Amino acid sequence: MATPHISAEKDAFADTVLMPGDPLRARYIAEHFLQDAQQITAVRNMYGYTGFYENQRVSVMAHGMGIPSCSIYATELITEYGVKNLIRVGSCGAVRDDVKVRDVLIALGASTDSRVNRLRFNGSDFAAIADFGIVQTLVQAASANEIPVRVGAFYTSDLFYHPDGELTERLRRYGVLGVEMETAGLYGVAAEYGAKAATVCTVSDHMVSGESLDSDERQTSFNQMIRIALDAAVR
Ligand code: ADE
Repeated sequence: MATPHISAEKDAFADTVLMPGDPLRARYIAEHFLQDAQQITAVRNMYGYTGFYENQRVSVMAHGMGIPSCSIYATELITEYGVKNLIRVGSCGAVRDDVKVRDVLIALGASTDSRVNRLRFNGSDFAAIADFGIVQTLVQAASANEIPVRVGAFYTSDLFYHPDGELTERLRRYGVLGVEMETAGLYGVAAEYGAKAATVCTVSDHMVSGESLDSDERQTSFNQMIRIALDAAVR
């Protein structure tokens, strides 16, 4: 069995899939956090693996950058492979003074400049919200690991290099914690096909102060976030 973008066998994915944007992050998670991980797909080098975490079957599959790429993989995982829970594990920018690089954030809901949810929701505004149960489990897992997390509003943009000079100020005023490029689309896909989804991100850069993490620091905060996501996946 294969889809246009995934070459895995029919039952190759676990019910819960962690989804980083970067395929090499997917490989890193499989090699450093899972036991007996097998690579199950590599179409376009968008790697997917299934292995065991605390004796429970868990998968990890990269989704690439942006809503269109993420939506393709999320849709095929749900509709063709029967995946039930998608946990995006990514990085994001921050705009507010009270959100710092290295912070771990959970996206309760995501506003967006993308039109994808209007396309699927017949022109109406769709409230792109996380699955409450996954969010609750992520918060519990963070607390058990004594890793502080914040839960709140995200903004998903189609543009990494945004021409709207007022954007960051508006996002600050509206209380947006994290800015990234996938979550509103992921939550729309999950709603459309009856799956559950949530995003957890580490803040890699501050869009106002200009501060950003170097690659070692990125790795440390990434590891903390993966621990939270995997603990949540098996709870
Ligand atoms: N992902 C990480 N940092 C980002 C930013 N500043 N804007 C959009 N996506 C991001």
